Amino acid sequence: MNLVILEGIVEIFLDTADIGAIERYKDFIDGVTTNPTILSKQENEDVQKIALEISKLINGPISVEVISSDFDDMVKEGESLAKIHPNICVKLPCTFDGLKACKNLSNKGIATNLTLCFSVPQAIMAAKCGATYVSPFVGRVDDIGQDGINLISDIVEVYNVHGFETRVLSASIRNINHFIQAAIAGTDAITIPENVLQQFFIHPLTDIGLKKFMSDWNKSKRK
Ligand code: E4P
Repeated sequence: MNLVILEGIVEIFLDTADIGAIERYKDFIDGVTTNPTILSKQENEDVQKIALEISKLINGPISVEVISSDFDDMVKEGESLAKIHPNICVKLPCTFDGLKACKNLSNKGIATNLTLCFSVPQAIMAAKCGATYVSPFVGRVDDIGQDGINLISDIVEVYNVHGFETRVLSASIRNINHFIQAAIAGTDAITIPENVLQQFFIHPLTDIGLKKFMSDWNKSKRK
């Protein structure tokens, strides 16, 4: 069995390790991303168990990050994470060792997600090392007074110009506008926290409109 990727349309991932949230939104999401901060907030800190539980709910990519920082340990950790389920994407940082580990794991057919990407050169290196996904962090780029969405557009353009197959996974999405702009920029996938996804199902005009439809119907003779 291989990693299940939804090609052609934008993949929506939930940025969480909260099983309750994944259960709630499983009909609307294509995968899940986690990171050590997200996992540290879970009562059950057994990463393998959490990842396995997620894999039973979602048939799509599940990113789980290594916590080692040197090449040999990253490779060992990545190999062990990949054994949990074929949908596991080994998350590696865009560092010298992380990129080397990406090349090594990709050559072994293991899916990878290169995280903490803040520049086009890092994204090019990730693609050249065979990354399945690269995760540029929109919100954190905005946090330092630069334009996170510009970074997404630049990476999408460079990947298109050069025919790289690595998928752009917009991360660190903090609000609906980030989501909209990343989608317009042509991202292949977006990971969003639950508080942003929740808002996709709410619009005051939908509520007002629905109330009016119902009240008109109830007032009519056809009741
Ligand atoms: C996902 O892959 C990232 O780890 C996550 O989106 C980071 O988001 P933050 O910058 O809001 O912590």
